[in-house]
Amino acid sequence: MKLTGKQQLISIIKDRIKKEGSLSFRDFMDMALYYPELGYYTSPEEKIGGFGDFYTASELDRAYGELLAEQFVEIYQKVEGKNFQIVEIGAGKGYLAYDILNFLKNKYPEIFKNSQYIIIEKSPYHIKTQKDILKEFPNVRWVQDIIDFEDESITGVIFSNELFDAFPVHLIRKINGKIYEVYISLDEEDNVQEILKEPSEDIIRYLKELSINIPEGMQTEINLDAVDYIQKIGRKLRKGYVITVDYGYPSAELYKPYRMRGTLLCYYRHQYSENFYQNVGMQDITSHVNFSALKYYGMIAGLDFTGFTDQAHFLTNLGLMDIMAELQEKNDIQSYERLNRLKTLVLPKGMGEKFKVLVQHKNIKNPQIKGLEMLPYMSDRYRL
Ligand SMILES: C[S@@+](CC[C@H](N)C(=O)[O-])C[C@H]1O[C@@H](n2cnc3c(N)ncnc32)[C@H](O)[C@@H]1O
Repeated sequence: MKLTGKQQLISIIKDRIKKEGSLSFRDFMDMALYYPELGYYTSPEEKIGGFGDFYTASELDRAYGELLAEQFVEIYQKVEGKNFQIVEIGAGKGYLAYDILNFLKNKYPEIFKNSQYIIIEKSPYHIKTQKDILKEFPNVRWVQDIIDFEDESITGVIFSNELFDAFPVHLIRKINGKIYEVYISLDEEDNVQEILKEPSEDIIRYLKELSINIPEGMQTEINLDAVDYIQKIGRKLRKGYVITVDYGYPSAELYKPYRMRGTLLCYYRHQYSENFYQNVGMQDITSHVNFSALKYYGMIAGLDFTGFTDQAHFLTNLGLMDIMAELQEKNDIQSYERLNRLKTLVLPKGMGEKFKVLVQHKNIKNPQIKGLEMLPYMSDRYRL
Protein backbone atom coordinates (compact mmCIF):
# COMPACT_ATOMS: atom_id res chain seq x y z
CA MET A 1 0.00 0.00 0.00
CA LYS A 2 1.33 3.43 -1.00
CA LEU A 3 1.22 6.48 1.27
CA THR A 4 -1.45 8.90 0.03
CA GLY A 5 -2.27 12.45 1.12
CA LYS A 6 -0.18 15.61 1.12
CA GLN A 7 2.60 14.93 -1.39
CA GLN A 8 5.09 17.34 0.15
CA LEU A 9 4.69 15.73 3.58
CA ILE A 10 4.83 12.21 2.11
CA SER A 11 8.15 13.03 0.37
CA ILE A 12 9.59 14.24 3.70
CA ILE A 13 8.38 11.08 5.49
CA LYS A 14 9.78 8.83 2.73
CA ASP A 15 13.14 10.62 2.80
CA ARG A 16 13.36 10.08 6.54
CA ILE A 17 12.48 6.39 6.20
CA LYS A 18 15.09 5.97 3.47
CA LYS A 19 17.71 7.73 5.55
CA GLU A 20 16.96 5.87 8.79
CA GLY A 21 15.86 2.54 7.27
CA SER A 22 12.57 2.57 9.19
CA LEU A 23 10.41 4.86 11.31
CA SER A 24 8.55 3.97 14.49
CA PHE A 25 4.79 4.24 14.08
CA ARG A 26 4.90 6.92 16.78
CA ASP A 27 7.27 9.09 14.75
CA PHE A 28 5.21 8.56 11.61
CA MET A 29 2.04 9.64 13.48
CA ASP A 30 3.86 12.63 14.96
CA MET A 31 4.88 13.79 11.48
CA ALA A 32 1.40 13.13 10.03
CA LEU A 33 -0.24 15.22 12.76
CA TYR A 34 2.35 17.84 13.73
CA TYR A 35 5.03 18.28 11.04
CA PRO A 36 5.49 22.09 10.81
CA GLU A 37 2.96 23.65 8.41
CA LEU A 38 2.12 20.32 6.75
CA GLY A 39 0.83 18.08 9.55
CA TYR A 40 -2.88 17.64 10.18
CA TYR A 41 -2.96 19.93 13.25
CA THR A 42 -0.30 22.36 12.05
CA SER A 43 -1.87 23.19 8.67
CA PRO A 44 -4.68 25.69 8.06
CA GLU A 45 -7.64 23.47 7.07
CA GLU A 46 -10.82 23.24 9.20
CA LYS A 47 -10.68 20.22 11.54
CA ILE A 48 -13.38 20.42 14.19
CA GLY A 49 -17.12 20.82 13.50
CA GLY A 50 -19.48 20.30 10.55
CA PHE A 51 -16.95 21.41 7.90
CA GLY A 52 -14.11 19.53 9.59
CA ASP A 53 -13.52 15.88 10.42
CA PHE A 54 -14.97 15.40 13.92
CA TYR A 55 -17.09 17.10 16.59
CA THR A 56 -16.06 17.75 20.18
CA ALA A 57 -18.23 18.59 23.21
CA SER A 58 -16.80 22.12 23.16
CA GLU A 59 -18.48 22.73 19.80
CA LEU A 60 -21.81 21.22 20.70
CA ASP A 61 -23.37 23.64 23.16
CA ARG A 62 -22.31 26.44 25.49
CA ALA A 63 -23.74 24.51 28.48
CA TYR A 64 -20.63 22.30 28.44
CA GLY A 65 -18.33 25.27 29.06
CA GLU A 66 -20.76 26.83 31.52
CA LEU A 67 -20.92 23.71 33.69
CA LEU A 68 -17.14 23.38 33.62
CA ALA A 69 -16.98 27.04 34.68
CA GLU A 70 -19.30 26.24 37.63
CA GLN A 71 -16.78 23.58 38.63
CA PHE A 72 -13.94 26.09 38.34
CA VAL A 73 -15.87 28.46 40.65
CA GLU A 74 -15.92 25.80 43.38
CA ILE A 75 -12.23 25.15 42.76
CA TYR A 76 -11.53 28.89 43.00
CA GLN A 77 -13.08 28.88 46.45
CA LYS A 78 -11.09 25.81 47.52
CA VAL A 79 -7.80 27.20 46.27
CA GLU A 80 -8.46 30.40 48.21
CA GLY A 81 -6.11 32.73 46.50
CA LYS A 82 -6.00 35.71 44.25
CA ASN A 83 -4.26 35.31 40.89
CA PHE A 84 -6.28 32.21 40.11
CA GLN A 85 -5.16 30.65 36.85
CA ILE A 86 -7.28 28.65 34.43
CA VAL A 87 -4.92 26.85 32.08
CA GLU A 88 -6.47 25.13 29.05
CA ILE A 89 -4.21 22.80 27.07
CA GLY A 90 -5.08 22.15 23.40
CA ALA A 91 -7.97 24.58 23.09
CA GLY A 92 -8.90 23.75 19.47
CA LYS A 93 -10.99 26.52 17.90
CA GLY A 94 -11.39 28.31 21.25
CA TYR A 95 -15.15 27.88 21.71
CA LEU A 96 -14.81 26.25 25.10
CA ALA A 97 -12.60 29.08 26.35
CA TYR A 98 -15.15 31.56 25.03
CA ASP A 99 -18.07 29.87 26.82
CA ILE A 100 -16.15 29.62 30.10
CA LEU A 101 -14.96 33.25 30.02
CA ASN A 102 -18.31 34.64 28.91
CA PHE A 103 -20.11 32.76 31.69
CA LEU A 104 -17.65 33.86 34.39
CA LYS A 105 -17.78 37.46 33.20
CA ASN A 106 -21.58 37.59 33.42
CA LYS A 107 -22.31 35.38 36.41
CA TYR A 108 -19.17 35.70 38.57
CA PRO A 109 -17.59 39.07 37.64
CA GLU A 110 -15.41 39.11 40.75
CA ILE A 111 -13.90 35.70 39.97
CA PHE A 112 -13.55 36.72 36.31
CA LYS A 113 -11.61 39.79 37.42
CA ASN A 114 -9.31 37.79 39.70
CA SER A 115 -8.58 35.05 37.18
CA GLN A 116 -6.17 34.70 34.34
CA TYR A 117 -6.99 32.41 31.39
CA ILE A 118 -3.96 30.83 29.75
CA ILE A 119 -4.02 28.68 26.63
CA ILE A 120 -1.26 26.25 25.74
CA GLU A 121 -1.67 25.33 22.08
CA LYS A 122 0.61 23.57 19.64
CA SER A 123 -1.22 24.32 16.39
CA PRO A 124 -0.53 27.75 14.81
CA TYR A 125 -3.83 27.38 12.91
CA HIS A 126 -5.78 26.88 16.13
CA ILE A 127 -3.95 29.75 17.86
CA LYS A 128 -5.14 32.02 15.05
CA THR A 129 -8.80 30.92 15.34
CA GLN A 130 -8.60 31.16 19.16
CA LYS A 131 -7.23 34.73 19.02
CA ASP A 132 -10.03 35.68 16.68
CA ILE A 133 -12.84 34.15 18.75
CA LEU A 134 -11.43 35.45 22.04
CA LYS A 135 -10.62 39.00 20.96
CA GLU A 136 -13.17 40.48 23.38
CA PHE A 137 -11.17 38.98 26.28
CA PRO A 138 -7.86 40.84 26.30
CA ASN A 139 -6.73 39.11 29.49
CA VAL A 140 -6.24 35.73 27.77
CA ARG A 141 -2.60 34.75 27.40
CA TRP A 142 -1.05 32.20 25.02
CA VAL A 143 1.89 30.03 25.94
CA GLN A 144 3.72 27.79 23.47
CA ASP A 145 4.49 24.91 25.77
CA ILE A 146 3.89 23.85 29.37
CA ILE A 147 7.66 23.83 29.90
CA ASP A 148 7.53 27.64 29.57
CA PHE A 149 6.10 27.77 33.10
CA GLU A 150 8.45 27.61 36.02
CA ASP A 151 8.07 24.58 38.29
CA GLU A 152 5.21 24.92 40.79
CA SER A 153 4.13 28.25 39.35
CA ILE A 154 0.49 27.47 38.53
CA THR A 155 -2.24 28.01 41.11
CA GLY A 156 -5.73 27.12 39.94
CA VAL A 157 -6.94 24.57 37.45
CA ILE A 158 -5.20 22.95 34.49
CA PHE A 159 -7.67 21.28 32.16
CA SER A 160 -7.98 19.73 28.72
CA ASN A 161 -10.74 18.40 26.50
CA GLU A 162 -9.57 15.74 24.03
CA LEU A 163 -5.87 16.58 24.33
CA PHE A 164 -4.25 13.24 25.17
CA ASP A 165 -6.14 11.33 22.46
CA ALA A 166 -4.34 13.55 19.91
CA PHE A 167 -0.82 12.58 21.03
CA PRO A 168 1.30 10.31 18.79
CA VAL A 169 1.44 6.75 20.11
CA HIS A 170 3.76 3.77 19.87
CA LEU A 171 2.15 0.61 18.49
CA ILE A 172 3.00 -2.72 20.09
CA ARG A 173 2.07 -6.29 19.18
CA LYS A 174 2.36 -9.51 21.20
CA ILE A 175 3.51 -12.58 19.29
CA ASN A 176 4.40 -15.91 20.95
CA GLY A 177 4.44 -14.22 24.33
CA LYS A 178 6.89 -11.50 23.26
CA ILE A 179 6.23 -7.78 22.84
CA TYR A 180 7.33 -6.08 19.61
CA GLU A 181 7.06 -2.48 18.46
CA VAL A 182 5.62 -1.58 15.04
CA TYR A 183 7.87 0.38 12.67
CA ILE A 184 7.22 1.28 9.06
CA SER A 185 9.56 0.91 6.10
CA LEU A 186 9.19 1.01 2.29
CA ASP A 187 9.75 -1.80 -0.28
CA GLU A 188 11.38 -1.22 -3.72
CA GLU A 189 8.09 0.11 -5.09
CA ASP A 190 7.59 2.46 -2.14
CA ASN A 191 4.78 0.38 -0.59
CA VAL A 192 4.48 0.78 3.18
CA GLN A 193 5.49 -2.26 5.14
CA GLU A 194 4.99 -2.66 8.85
CA ILE A 195 7.96 -4.33 10.48
CA LEU A 196 8.38 -5.51 14.06
CA LYS A 197 11.34 -4.53 16.21
CA GLU A 198 12.43 -4.84 19.82
CA PRO A 199 10.45 -2.33 21.91
CA SER A 200 12.27 0.52 23.63
CA GLU A 201 13.12 0.27 27.32
CA ASP A 202 10.53 2.99 28.04
CA ILE A 203 7.79 0.76 26.63
CA ILE A 204 8.93 -2.25 28.65
CA ARG A 205 9.09 -0.11 31.81
CA TYR A 206 5.60 1.29 31.16
CA LEU A 207 4.10 -2.21 30.81
CA LYS A 208 5.87 -3.32 33.98
CA GLU A 209 5.02 -0.28 36.08
CA LEU A 210 1.35 -0.46 35.14
CA SER A 211 1.26 -4.30 35.39
CA ILE A 212 -0.10 -4.57 31.86
CA ASN A 213 -0.12 -8.01 30.29
CA ILE A 214 -1.82 -7.80 26.89
CA PRO A 215 -3.41 -10.91 25.32
CA GLU A 216 -1.51 -12.96 22.73
CA GLY A 217 -1.92 -11.53 19.21
CA MET A 218 -3.12 -8.09 20.39
CA GLN A 219 -1.92 -4.89 18.76
CA THR A 220 -2.39 -1.80 20.89
CA GLU A 221 -1.10 1.70 21.57
CA ILE A 222 1.32 3.00 24.19
CA ASN A 223 1.06 6.75 24.76
CA LEU A 224 4.46 7.66 26.21
CA ASP A 225 3.93 11.33 25.30
CA ALA A 226 0.99 11.33 27.73
CA VAL A 227 3.23 9.89 30.48
CA ASP A 228 5.68 12.70 29.94
CA TYR A 229 3.00 15.39 29.73
CA ILE A 230 1.03 14.49 32.87
CA GLN A 231 4.30 14.56 34.82
CA LYS A 232 5.11 18.00 33.44
CA ILE A 233 1.63 19.16 34.49
CA GLY A 234 2.18 17.72 37.97
CA ARG A 235 5.46 19.56 38.35
CA LYS A 236 4.08 22.90 37.15
CA LEU A 237 1.07 22.91 39.50
CA ARG A 238 1.66 24.51 42.90
CA LYS A 239 -1.87 24.27 44.25
CA GLY A 240 -5.11 23.28 42.58
CA TYR A 241 -6.65 20.71 40.27
CA VAL A 242 -6.07 18.95 36.98
CA ILE A 243 -9.20 18.01 35.04
CA THR A 244 -8.78 15.79 32.01
CA VAL A 245 -11.75 15.00 29.77
CA ASP A 246 -11.20 12.46 27.01
CA TYR A 247 -12.32 9.09 25.70
CA GLY A 248 -10.57 6.11 27.16
CA TYR A 249 -10.49 3.48 29.88
CA PRO A 250 -8.48 2.14 32.78
CA SER A 251 -5.90 -0.54 31.85
CA ALA A 252 -8.23 -3.32 33.07
CA GLU A 253 -10.73 -2.42 30.36
CA LEU A 254 -8.46 -1.13 27.59
CA TYR A 255 -6.63 -4.41 27.01
CA LYS A 256 -9.64 -6.75 27.13
CA PRO A 257 -9.49 -9.44 24.40
CA TYR A 258 -12.34 -7.84 22.44
CA ARG A 259 -10.00 -4.94 21.55
CA MET A 260 -7.43 -7.11 19.71
CA ARG A 261 -6.66 -4.31 17.24
CA GLY A 262 -6.41 -1.61 19.91
CA THR A 263 -8.27 1.66 19.60
CA LEU A 264 -6.33 3.61 16.97
CA LEU A 265 -8.63 5.29 14.41
CA CYS A 266 -8.50 7.92 11.67
CA TYR A 267 -11.15 10.58 11.12
CA TYR A 268 -11.57 12.15 7.70
CA ARG A 269 -14.69 14.22 6.95
CA HIS A 270 -16.68 12.50 9.70
CA GLN A 271 -15.84 9.00 8.42
CA TYR A 272 -13.64 6.78 10.53
CA SER A 273 -11.24 4.15 9.26
CA GLU A 274 -8.10 2.19 10.10
CA ASN A 275 -6.31 3.49 6.98
CA PHE A 276 -3.43 5.11 8.87
CA TYR A 277 -1.31 5.47 5.73
CA GLN A 278 -3.97 7.20 3.61
CA ASN A 279 -4.78 10.95 3.61
CA VAL A 280 -1.48 11.60 5.40
CA GLY A 281 -1.56 15.13 6.84
CA MET A 282 -5.25 15.45 5.94
CA GLN A 283 -6.89 13.21 8.52
CA ASP A 284 -6.90 12.96 12.29
CA ILE A 285 -5.34 9.89 13.88
CA THR A 286 -6.39 9.28 17.47
CA SER A 287 -6.43 6.63 20.17
CA HIS A 288 -8.19 6.03 23.48
CA VAL A 289 -6.47 7.32 26.60
CA ASN A 290 -5.20 4.98 29.30
CA PHE A 291 -6.47 6.77 32.42
CA SER A 292 -4.66 4.34 34.77
CA ALA A 293 -1.42 5.68 33.28
CA LEU A 294 -2.45 9.31 33.83
CA LYS A 295 -3.32 8.52 37.45
CA TYR A 296 -0.13 6.53 38.10
CA TYR A 297 2.37 8.92 36.49
CA GLY A 298 0.48 11.94 37.81
CA MET A 299 1.02 10.57 41.34
CA ILE A 300 4.75 10.24 40.67
CA ALA A 301 4.76 13.96 39.82
CA GLY A 302 2.85 14.97 42.96
CA LEU A 303 -0.75 14.83 41.76
CA ASP A 304 -3.17 13.12 44.16
CA PHE A 305 -6.12 11.23 42.75
CA THR A 306 -9.45 12.94 43.39
CA GLY A 307 -11.80 10.82 41.29
CA PHE A 308 -12.72 9.29 37.97
CA THR A 309 -16.13 9.42 36.36
CA ASP A 310 -17.83 9.80 33.00
CA GLN A 311 -19.09 12.93 31.31
CA ALA A 312 -22.75 12.10 31.96
CA HIS A 313 -22.29 11.86 35.73
CA PHE A 314 -19.90 14.81 35.86
CA LEU A 315 -22.23 17.18 33.99
CA THR A 316 -25.33 15.92 35.79
CA ASN A 317 -23.67 16.58 39.16
CA LEU A 318 -22.93 20.11 37.99
CA GLY A 319 -26.54 20.86 37.04
CA LEU A 320 -27.09 19.77 33.44
CA MET A 321 -30.58 18.45 34.22
CA ASP A 322 -31.66 21.88 35.50
CA ILE A 323 -30.57 23.47 32.22
CA MET A 324 -32.44 20.76 30.29
CA ALA A 325 -35.59 21.25 32.38
CA GLU A 326 -35.51 25.00 31.70
CA LEU A 327 -35.20 24.41 27.97
CA GLN A 328 -38.05 21.91 28.07
CA GLU A 329 -40.25 24.53 29.74
CA LYS A 330 -39.53 27.09 27.05
CA ASN A 331 -40.98 24.88 24.34
CA ASP A 332 -39.62 26.77 21.32
CA ILE A 333 -37.56 25.59 18.37
CA GLN A 334 -34.18 26.94 19.60
CA SER A 335 -34.65 25.36 23.01
CA TYR A 336 -35.73 22.08 21.41
CA GLU A 337 -32.56 22.06 19.27
CA ARG A 338 -30.36 22.87 22.26
CA LEU A 339 -32.08 20.12 24.25
CA ASN A 340 -31.20 17.59 21.54
CA ARG A 341 -27.57 18.69 21.55
CA LEU A 342 -27.42 18.41 25.33
CA LYS A 343 -28.77 14.87 25.13
CA THR A 344 -25.71 14.00 23.01
CA LEU A 345 -23.50 15.17 25.89
CA VAL A 346 -25.07 12.75 28.36
CA LEU A 347 -26.58 9.78 26.54
CA PRO A 348 -24.49 6.59 26.67
CA LYS A 349 -24.66 6.22 22.87
CA GLY A 350 -23.49 9.82 22.51
CA MET A 351 -20.65 11.26 24.55
CA GLY A 352 -22.02 10.54 28.02
CA GLU A 353 -20.32 7.23 28.74
CA LYS A 354 -17.53 7.17 26.19
CA PHE A 355 -16.00 10.35 27.57
CA LYS A 356 -14.39 10.16 30.98
CA VAL A 357 -13.31 12.79 33.45
CA LEU A 358 -10.18 12.33 35.56
CA VAL A 359 -9.70 14.76 38.43
CA GLN A 360 -6.36 15.11 40.24
CA HIS A 361 -5.28 17.65 42.84
CA LYS A 362 -2.25 19.03 44.67
CA ASN A 363 -1.99 20.76 48.06
CA ILE A 364 -5.75 20.79 48.68
CA LYS A 365 -7.01 19.80 52.16
CA ASN A 366 -10.56 18.79 51.40
CA PRO A 367 -10.41 17.86 47.72
CA GLN A 368 -13.90 16.48 46.97
CA ILE A 369 -15.71 18.50 44.30
CA LYS A 370 -19.27 18.75 43.04
CA GLY A 371 -18.62 17.09 39.66
CA LEU A 372 -17.66 13.87 41.50
CA GLU A 373 -20.57 13.74 43.96
CA MET A 374 -22.51 10.93 42.31
CA LEU A 375 -20.32 8.33 40.60
CA PRO A 376 -21.11 5.59 38.04
CA TYR A 377 -21.34 1.94 39.06
CA MET A 378 -17.81 0.71 39.87
CA SER A 379 -16.74 -1.76 37.16
CA ASP A 380 -13.49 -2.32 35.17
CA ARG A 381 -14.53 0.68 33.09
CA TYR A 382 -14.13 2.97 36.09
CA ARG A 383 -11.61 1.26 38.41
CA LEU A 384 -8.23 2.96 37.91
C1 LIG B 1 -8.71 16.87 19.32
S1 LIG B 1 -8.28 18.57 19.42
C2 LIG B 1 -9.34 19.12 20.74
C3 LIG B 1 -9.57 20.59 20.70
C4 LIG B 1 -10.46 21.21 21.78
N1 LIG B 1 -9.99 20.96 23.11
C5 LIG B 1 -11.90 20.76 21.65
O1 LIG B 1 -12.41 20.13 22.56
O2 LIG B 1 -12.51 21.06 20.62
C6 LIG B 1 -6.67 18.52 20.15
C7 LIG B 1 -6.04 19.88 20.35
O3 LIG B 1 -4.84 19.73 21.12
C8 LIG B 1 -3.78 20.46 20.49
N2 LIG B 1 -2.52 19.84 20.92
C9 LIG B 1 -2.04 18.63 20.63
N3 LIG B 1 -0.87 18.40 21.25
C10 LIG B 1 -0.62 19.49 22.00
C11 LIG B 1 0.42 19.86 22.90
N4 LIG B 1 1.44 19.05 23.15
N5 LIG B 1 0.34 21.07 23.50
C12 LIG B 1 -0.70 21.90 23.27
N6 LIG B 1 -1.71 21.61 22.42
C13 LIG B 1 -1.67 20.42 21.80
C14 LIG B 1 -4.12 20.34 19.02
O4 LIG B 1 -3.45 21.29 18.24
C15 LIG B 1 -5.63 20.59 19.07
O5 LIG B 1 -5.92 21.95 19.17
